[in-house]
Amino acid sequence: MCGIIAYAGEKNPLEVLINGLERLEYRGYDSAGISVLKEDDIYTVKAAGKVSSLAQRIDDDSQLADTSQLHCGIAHTRWATHGGPTENNAHPHLGQNSRIALVHNGIIENYQELKNDLLAQGHVFKSETDTEILAHLIEAHYEKDLKKAVSEALAKVEGAYGIAVISKDEPDTIITARFGSPIVIGLCKDEVIIASDINAIVQHTDRVVYLNDGDLAIVNKSGISFHDLSLKSVQRNEEKITHTAEEAQKGGYSTFMMKEIHDQPRAVRNSVRGHLDFENATTSLGGLHMNPKELASIDRIQLFACGTSLNAALLGQYFFEDLVGIPCQVTQAADFRYRNPIIEKNTLAIALSQSGETADTLAAVHEAKRKGADLIAICNAVGSTIAREAGRGVYLHAGPEISVASTKAFTTQVSVLLQLAVLLGRTKRLDRSHAADILEAIDKLPEQIEEVLKLSDSIRTITEKYTDVHSMFFIGRGYQYPVALEGALKVKEISYIHAEGYHAAELKHGPLALLDEKVPVVAICTNKDSSQKIVSNIRECSSRKSPVIAVVSEGIETPADDSIVIPQAHPTTAPVLAAVALQLFSFHIADLRGCPIDQPKNLAKSVTVE
Ligand code: F6R
Repeated sequence: MCGIIAYAGEKNPLEVLINGLERLEYRGYDSAGISVLKEDDIYTVKAAGKVSSLAQRIDDDSQLADTSQLHCGIAHTRWATHGGPTENNAHPHLGQNSRIALVHNGIIENYQELKNDLLAQGHVFKSETDTEILAHLIEAHYEKDLKKAVSEALAKVEGAYGIAVISKDEPDTIITARFGSPIVIGLCKDEVIIASDINAIVQHTDRVVYLNDGDLAIVNKSGISFHDLSLKSVQRNEEKITHTAEEAQKGGYSTFMMKEIHDQPRAVRNSVRGHLDFENATTSLGGLHMNPKELASIDRIQLFACGTSLNAALLGQYFFEDLVGIPCQVTQAADFRYRNPIIEKNTLAIALSQSGETADTLAAVHEAKRKGADLIAICNAVGSTIAREAGRGVYLHAGPEISVASTKAFTTQVSVLLQLAVLLGRTKRLDRSHAADILEAIDKLPEQIEEVLKLSDSIRTITEKYTDVHSMFFIGRGYQYPVALEGALKVKEISYIHAEGYHAAELKHGPLALLDEKVPVVAICTNKDSSQKIVSNIRECSSRKSPVIAVVSEGIETPADDSIVIPQAHPTTAPVLAAVALQLFSFHIADLRGCPIDQPKNLAKSVTVE
């Protein structure tokens, strides 16, 4: 959730670090800080608020005017866990005698116990963070050997961390280590960049090494060496990253969210590329590494995920049950981890995660593996922890998703789940002609999304009526139910309007009590077969005076006050079009309310803590 960057090389580290922080700001944006080694001392600057405030402070700092002696530094943009978003709590944190500085992403779970020991030894703390405890602990172990001090301190730590540490006594060395929070090292000629994700590295190099849990790397003038936490050497391989720096830019849009909404035709096309086998009316997903016999032997599916990915998984449940005809369970990843799930023989467990770093989903991956499940991952971030731990699966190929509110990950996840359902379905009950219809529908999806994007202005006009409301409901039935959940999630996270997604049939089991003229209802109706039932639900809402906005496929008539009419599509792909319309709906309502769309309050991208 926080962003980490560290640099060792001949360039001005301040520039590299600030530029990196700007690219990582979507991971946390409540405060930021930087430490550089200057004349054998550690010089630290911090600021509450955005990275731009930190950059201003650095510009104004006369002591940092001469950068010729600066070669090494660490920096951080924070999403608060322990302690408020203040300058004091901002990273880097220093040891008791300011000999070492540390940036950290994660949570030290036994920090109180460690803090009590350090307090007893006379340590004084300046912040409320768990990270400062780790900085003190490392310094307490420091005897002219930073790697040894880090290794000994980490042996006492319980929790999750991705860290970068410098010491004023070893001015050209950075130690980095990870357990549960990602660290990637970018390799360039004569310089090294360490970061919590590749978006801060991609403009410098395409050569990277991902640290595994329990790895510690020593970066200094003589190069990089990789070790386990007890400092035994380990071998880590260099990988090539394929996405470009431009993909992680706004590309002329005012926000990443709007840019990524518009990325979707291309993203969905990429998620499909090379997979549709029209001749055999099936799909081919090579990353699964499963032969037809293994595919045919799957009797049950268990999906787990969080947030938007969970909503996509719920749609996957409909696909697997309808098209493959096997039971499918969807479990929120934290619940999967803690409730002792039953994994039966021939179950395929599927972890769904855009970032591939979500702590609860990662823990669920471990649980599924422990229980002996056959596991695959559906991830967007190439080389992410979940993708690597699963070892097989399907990448979304949506390109980097920077917007905190997930958009193109949802649509590409649904595309991949549908492709997987066709593949499994063709080993079981899905007949050739039904499968061929779905392949055609998937193939048409990018063009149809383009049609929905053209509705942006008219959707904005509709939202103008609803910018002052305090609460909204989103309702759908069957395939539209997960879309209702996703629409409500988008609205609440970026516009701060309370929004609830409900199965339309559940309205009369309680929520109707909340409806009145100030509570609009968004009804999703893309299926002709169930449209009469949704029409009845719309009438129920209207008779309680709620304004109703219907998202309907062409040809479906409803008595709603406003309608967003999307192209007619196959029942399995229509939910994707409705989801895109609702992304635009939530974007415009948030924009008209003046909300900071790319940096919604209290949120950050990639939830790497429990
Ligand atoms: C909502 C959103 C979050 C994520 C959730 C899971 O717009 O972005 O709900 O979907 O944190 O993240 P991933 O998919 O990276 O595991």
